[in-house]
Amino acid sequence: MSIRPAALRNNEGIMNSAILLVDVASAGRDSWKAFLQRHSYEVFTAKDGESAERQCLQLQPDLVLLYDNLPDVDGFDLCRRMKDNPLNQQVPIVLVKQSSNPADAARGRAAGAADFWGTYSSVAEALGRVQSLLRLKTYIDEQAKSVMLSLARSIEARHPLMNGHSERMVNYALQLGRSLDLRDEDLQELRIACLLHDIGKVAVPDEILLKPGSLNAAETRVVRQHPIVGVSICAPLKSLRRILPAIRHHHERMDGSGYPDGLCGHQIPLLARILQVADVYDALITDRPYRDALSPEDALETLNREAAYGWLDDSLVGKFSQLCRYGGDYFPVRGRTMLASYYA
Ligand SMILES: [Fe+2]
Repeated sequence: MSIRPAALRNNEGIMNSAILLVDVASAGRDSWKAFLQRHSYEVFTAKDGESAERQCLQLQPDLVLLYDNLPDVDGFDLCRRMKDNPLNQQVPIVLVKQSSNPADAARGRAAGAADFWGTYSSVAEALGRVQSLLRLKTYIDEQAKSVMLSLARSIEARHPLMNGHSERMVNYALQLGRSLDLRDEDLQELRIACLLHDIGKVAVPDEILLKPGSLNAAETRVVRQHPIVGVSICAPLKSLRRILPAIRHHHERMDGSGYPDGLCGHQIPLLARILQVADVYDALITDRPYRDALSPEDALETLNREAAYGWLDDSLVGKFSQLCRYGGDYFPVRGRTMLASYYA
């Protein structure tokens, strides 16, 4: 999964809206592109259907302006194809056809376009339409993010023994993140990543998720899909784009023995490594079907052992241990029972 780089943020750390301009090199394309850039949009271009589809998935733009003038594909067919991909569902596509007829607007809607433009009187008018669509997109993204957070809470509530796990993780992870001088925007992303990291477990059947004993190989395979499923759930939303690597990689291990990609060391994103420490610590200080909760001191010893095995980031575990021992109110009351699937 590719996401747009952080360099595309503005000075306030807010991501500029990205527009994908799909247009064979028409006379007006470059001036229209420059006009949009002057209004602080990130503008990418594609000049045929194949590159439009590829770039839409890679960039996950906030808006696609699709001109029906491509050499290799009809614009309406391309629109339909792009909207058929679930990852593009939240991406509004505007179909633009210079010499249109009344039936084209209906064809555009049938192809999944958010809007259909024939001609417009001025670039200012077109800009107004672009701004309206982007405002709507931002609103829908935020609403969808709220739904995601509710979904994550409901997954946790499916097994009350895990209730509150994510909220406790947020507390540990943020204190560790602050001790590393992470920026406020990174801390905010860390918070959301903690709350949503296991959202992919929505696809794990209850008989596996709630199984008190150990999992067999087939069940383990199902559980191990949850980081990938989580990314596919969150990927269509711009507001969650930056936390996708933390969701995908929260079960990697420093020695490469984790999943889903077997990343090693600092290939694992920092937010994912912080999240892991918080995740494992909270798992250890809560009861499990086959053992009582560990004391905070024993839990820290276990964390340090896991770092020595090459699983967790030893520098982060060292920092976390210091914070726990000397840094504040880290030690919560003993937690509740955890499930075998938790550590799969
Ligand atoms: Fe997980």
